[in-house]
Amino acid sequence: MKKVVLQEFGGPEVLHWVDYPDPICPEDGWVVETRAIGLNFAEVVERRGQYRRDQKTPYEMGKEASGIICEKGPSAEGFEVGDAVIVVKFNNGCYGEKISAVPGQVLLPPEGFSFAEMSSFANTWATAWLALEEMGRVRPGESALIQAAAGGVGTAAVLLARSLGMAPIIGTAGTHEKCRLVESLGASRCVDYTSEDFRGTVTEITKGRGVDWCLESVGGEVYERSLESLGPTGRLVLIGFSSLSGDYSEQIPRLHPLTLFHRSISVSGLNVDKLDYPTLEGCWDSLVKHVNHHGLRPVIGPSFSFSDIVAAHTALESRNSTGKVVLEVDAS
Ligand SMILES: NC(=O)c1ccc[n+]([C@@H]2O[C@H](COP(=O)([O-])OP(=O)(O)OC[C@H]3O[C@@H](n4cnc5c(N)ncnc54)[C@H](OP(=O)(O)O)[C@@H]3O)[C@@H](O)[C@H]2O)c1
Repeated sequence: MKKVVLQEFGGPEVLHWVDYPDPICPEDGWVVETRAIGLNFAEVVERRGQYRRDQKTPYEMGKEASGIICEKGPSAEGFEVGDAVIVVKFNNGCYGEKISAVPGQVLLPPEGFSFAEMSSFANTWATAWLALEEMGRVRPGESALIQAAAGGVGTAAVLLARSLGMAPIIGTAGTHEKCRLVESLGASRCVDYTSEDFRGTVTEITKGRGVDWCLESVGGEVYERSLESLGPTGRLVLIGFSSLSGDYSEQIPRLHPLTLFHRSISVSGLNVDKLDYPTLEGCWDSLVKHVNHHGLRPVIGPSFSFSDIVAAHTALESRNSTGKVVLEVDAS
């Protein structure tokens, strides 16, 4: 079988599909034959070698995928050979034609999802769901500001915020076309933040109050303006820094607790990679129930064939994608 294991960090050209032995089926787990692989912006950062300070080659890639179980360990419970499943591996290894997985890494998909949709769900939607429900404690009628709202997590957040009764929802995105997509998903307004200051729109739409909840994933000036956009009791959930590169720890301004105190706002961070599987399982159960109830589906953007991984990474990295970038894997 073929998979991607980085031998060096760098640009998209360091991604190569190479022959590897089939994975060994865990005693209590499964081997899944991949049908689709969902790409995450974090994998762009990993590919550059800037995700963790201790990243070393050879380096496995890929956090989420979907496929069909082709092997089951003798003590595995809950899934059978032939089942269509989601695989999520925060310790990576999903860029492959076959993936081994242990309990907690295999999930039953929501109703009626295609393989592409299944591969775009676990990491991406769990992030948006936890940011809304767990960290943000959002309530119907509260206002939302969602940065990079046309992306994988962003589109999930818009759809979930709307289905949770939040209003108004303000999005931001990097082009006019992306903004139209965000508004078509239910945002009241989407601002092209490359040419316009979204703080004016926040002031106008919230009648000067500021937003109740903000999902921030861009960093830099967008982070600082997001913080300024919070209203009293507003909550900002920080999930990423897509615009920053290199060692971003020094690029993020320090936040004094007195600022939080004076304005009655809060800032929290969410890193799904670092949550344990039992914590996530509770999240997935409630998320799948919510998604089934509201008939929600991931927004799939450009799909690439398995062998076009360089083009797929380039599209995600160069902001030329909307929704989730997916690699389709042939069933042959
Ligand atoms: N903390 C967690 O547990 C967690 C989990 C999943 C994802 N995340 C984070 O959430 C964010 C979204 O992830 P995703 O996989 O769904 O990616 P994505 O949103 O589909 O892609 C990243 C988007 O960031 C925006 N962006 C703004 N400035 C950029 C720049 N200088 N270079 C590249 N992109 C830029 C672009 O949208 P525009 O062109 O519209 O600006 C781009 O499409 C990322 O920061 C990711 O690391 C965090």
